Amino acid sequence: VNTHTDKTAAAEAFDRAAAARRAGDMKGALSGFLMALALAPSHPAYRREALSVLGLASGYTALPVPILDALRAAATDPTLDLQPLSLVVKNIVVGDRRFADLEKALHGPPDAVEHAIADGAWDWLLGEPLLHAVLARAILIGARLENVLTKLRRHFLLHPSTALLVRHERFLVAAALQVNSTRFPWRVEPDEQAYLAGLKDGAALAQALYRPLRDLSAAAANDLPDVLKAARHAQQEIKQRAANVLGLTPIEDAVSQKVQAQYEQFPYPPWDVIADAKPMAFDAFITAQFPRLAAGTAKPAILSAGCGTGRGAIMLALTFPEASITGLDLSRTSLAYAAMKAEQHNLTNITFGIGDILNVSALNQTFDMIESSGVLHHMRDPSVGLRALAAVLKPGSVMRLALYSERGRSAVIAARDVIAARKIPDSDDGVREARRVLQNLPSGHPARGVIDTPEFFTLDGLHDLIFNVQETRYTPRQLKLLLQGAELTFAGFDIADAAIRTAYARAFPDDPQALDLDNWDQFEQSHASAFSEMYQLWCYKAA
Ligand SMILES: C[S@@+](CC[C@H](N)C(=O)[O-])C[C@H]1O[C@@H](n2cnc3c(N)ncnc32)[C@H](O)[C@@H]1O
Repeated sequence: VNTHTDKTAAAEAFDRAAAARRAGDMKGALSGFLMALALAPSHPAYRREALSVLGLASGYTALPVPILDALRAAATDPTLDLQPLSLVVKNIVVGDRRFADLEKALHGPPDAVEHAIADGAWDWLLGEPLLHAVLARAILIGARLENVLTKLRRHFLLHPSTALLVRHERFLVAAALQVNSTRFPWRVEPDEQAYLAGLKDGAALAQALYRPLRDLSAAAANDLPDVLKAARHAQQEIKQRAANVLGLTPIEDAVSQKVQAQYEQFPYPPWDVIADAKPMAFDAFITAQFPRLAAGTAKPAILSAGCGTGRGAIMLALTFPEASITGLDLSRTSLAYAAMKAEQHNLTNITFGIGDILNVSALNQTFDMIESSGVLHHMRDPSVGLRALAAVLKPGSVMRLALYSERGRSAVIAARDVIAARKIPDSDDGVREARRVLQNLPSGHPARGVIDTPEFFTLDGLHDLIFNVQETRYTPRQLKLLLQGAELTFAGFDIADAAIRTAYARAFPDDPQALDLDNWDQFEQSHASAFSEMYQLWCYKAA
């Protein structure tokens, strides 16, 4: 092998892929990034980019062996976000012709299942390191795949002589991590419930597949493999931290209190690692992104309003090492998770505390930037919340918001209608029931769109998506009024999909900056899913 030639070829493939991606050519991007990865499998940027495009691509059911091997190696890298691998696993596993046989066999007698496992007939799936990695560190997606794993879990519980433990402990441990981090969305039959009720301190691994590790007795926990012991410790740590969260502002509003209770029970979102933070100077960032604004300060104060489990706030702290970040939220449980993650990232420039955006003035501080993603639309009156934030934003400074789109959320709205019509209760069990009902809807039903989201595969995610106790949705025209009401000026949407940007530019050549929200309203009428991932927008306060 001529490594030098390989390196050059890899770099060229990577550059071509990056250009293709910028131009919206996702097929070109995928093949280029995969080629770069195959040629230089341990290059961190190649790994990151290959994963990120694979996370968007579908329509393949197999990958060449060198690519699979490179991905398996990448999956052992603790600094990579493995969520994109989930789609890869779904595609290659469910697309494998052996998968349908496995599904059928799982309906058969337990003895036959036991033999198949003992004979190694399912090693291709249960021994697959990519599956283990996704289960341990990402959200598994795919209803058929989940169904198969649910049946294997059931087999393991009810047939303790199982060959699974002998052959596939790694799989079982990874599955236990998955159900613990997604808070047990998988279906449990009454006979499993009954069996579980009779379990004592033994069968620690079986218990870990059905209940929070935190709830296992110390004696049972003693028998667990180290990774599960560590996960149990983290769950206990979150509980302790939640009891000791720093108080920042009072929470008096009745809707805020209702929303608070919701996010205590269903903290959101679950996340693992941030792989793509690029440190930069805040003033340089402002100059590059907002040339019309005066350069920002080098050491900004930044507020993450409604920071949830802290991903956005921690991303800001990593991106702007000179900044001091405040993360404010209603939910102790979410803040506890955020604080634990900040510590894991060795961050010292971030403070998390509990409080209501409505009382943000009680912080007695003003900010050089505010980020509030997926938050204001959960307030009784989002315009009051936005005005409260605008009041603590320094003149000439920017705010980044993410808000629900009325048109983009049509599948969610249909799903909300289904659960309302069937009076499905708002509880952990209700969310599980909703999953069953939605999966059984006829194909083509508008609510089935929510099944194809990662949110569907976690209890907290699906609650956030379709059970939210308070939500307002917007059109671009309504966004315009919302911003005007807080005396903020629209500074543009962040849109990842180049095709959307191009289509807008073509439709509105007179608006090269893409800043006219009336145009966007018209545009969205014919591109209803353009903002299905929310409006991600920038605005600023006049100097
Ligand atoms: C959907 S989560 C988004 C979390 C985070 N911003 C993210 O994007 O990952 C909404 C969060 O907003 C918080 N929230 C809602 N209303 C709030 C309020 N009035 N004051 C502070 N936080 C609020 C909730 O507690 C919840 O954690």
